[in-house]
Amino acid sequence: MIPSVLPTYNRAPLAFVKGEGSWLTAEDGTRYLDLGSGIAVNALGHAHPALVATLTEQAARLWHVSNVYRVPEQERLADLLVARTFADTVFFTNSGTETAELAIKMVRKYWYEKGEPPRTTILTFEGAFHGRSTGAIAAAGSEKMVKGFGPLMPGFRHLPWGDMAAFEAAIGPETAAVMIEPIQGEGGIRVLPDADLRAIRAACDQTGALLILDEVQCGMGRTGRLFAHEWAGVTPDIMMVAKGIGGGFPLGAVLATEAAASGMTAGTHGSTYGGNPLGCAVGATVVEIVSDPDFLAEVGRKAGLFRQRLEALVATYPDVFEAVRGQGLMLGLKCRVAPADLVNAGYGAHVLTVAAADNTLRLLPPLTITDDEIAEAMRRLDEAAASVSRGLSSTSD
Ligand SMILES: Cc1ncc(COP(=O)(O)O)c(C=O)c1O
Repeated sequence: MIPSVLPTYNRAPLAFVKGEGSWLTAEDGTRYLDLGSGIAVNALGHAHPALVATLTEQAARLWHVSNVYRVPEQERLADLLVARTFADTVFFTNSGTETAELAIKMVRKYWYEKGEPPRTTILTFEGAFHGRSTGAIAAAGSEKMVKGFGPLMPGFRHLPWGDMAAFEAAIGPETAAVMIEPIQGEGGIRVLPDADLRAIRAACDQTGALLILDEVQCGMGRTGRLFAHEWAGVTPDIMMVAKGIGGGFPLGAVLATEAAASGMTAGTHGSTYGGNPLGCAVGATVVEIVSDPDFLAEVGRKAGLFRQRLEALVATYPDVFEAVRGQGLMLGLKCRVAPADLVNAGYGAHVLTVAAADNTLRLLPPLTITDDEIAEAMRRLDEAAASVSRGLSSTSD
């Protein structure tokens, strides 16, 4: 019999009843160190006092008003994002997937308004993940996501990851946009080198194609800058943001330049809940905290510490791990075993990690993780790795 909850997830037999900082408490009272943060969502950990205060204050005052009216909380968050990024304008959504939908619509409308309707091809990359809507799966194009869901939305050309020659050959006067994650998350914590991002920006400038950066997972302070592309010293035309910006409250945002957004006039897009007062109030508190240069410097310092210890872990268990990947606190361990084995061993050691493609184990701790918690994380990851390693040697005996 089908469960009452549609069984689209492979869920672990674990349920949590409470969260505090970097820790989650399960139904049986066991505490787990959370190195997944709801997959880069709980950027400030669980139940951060400033977020709880903002949410409860807003909840007591006003939950929802229609976008038929001005929403001051939305305007405040948009002003903050415009002040702190390349963007001139922002549209709020409830998820990352919805940001992909708007980014695609924005590009199409931009070229339509320019009187170049045939210019509709968006270049995307193998291993990408932009969400699960029909548009987002067509954009990513992976067999696993699209199988059985055709016919797919046309207009995407999928290129190999990390092959700049293929990219240079593909981009041209018919390219409407390039859509790429500065660091692939689901794809296995694969970092786009700064030089490649700069070359992609230059090729977009040369051909007029718009550059869409998907910073849903790698943005909001995770790399030690507010947004990952800042390391390369270039800016996109359109950026997709979600996950961390709500700190656990469903919130996403499409940030754009005035030129890129020029086709999106009244009536061209909308959302009932997108930009609701609760989400935007929380988002403004998150952005205020995360964009503080001292906070970002701390992310960088802790990331250095964590990475150094992970390098030592890889050296200790060469049968289990191959290499450390990533940037800032968006870290990956390329594995020689199935990453799911390590995730499962982590449950035994009471540490939560996340598997990704390309045989990679993801570590996306709250940005507020302390030095002591990093030390504790290493003890627990060591325990998990030791148990997987023992399993390997017992099967080879
Ligand atoms: C890079 C990226 N884009 C888009 C999405 C989709 O976001 P959501 O699950 O909030 O719809 C995700 C989610 O994992 C993501 O990692």
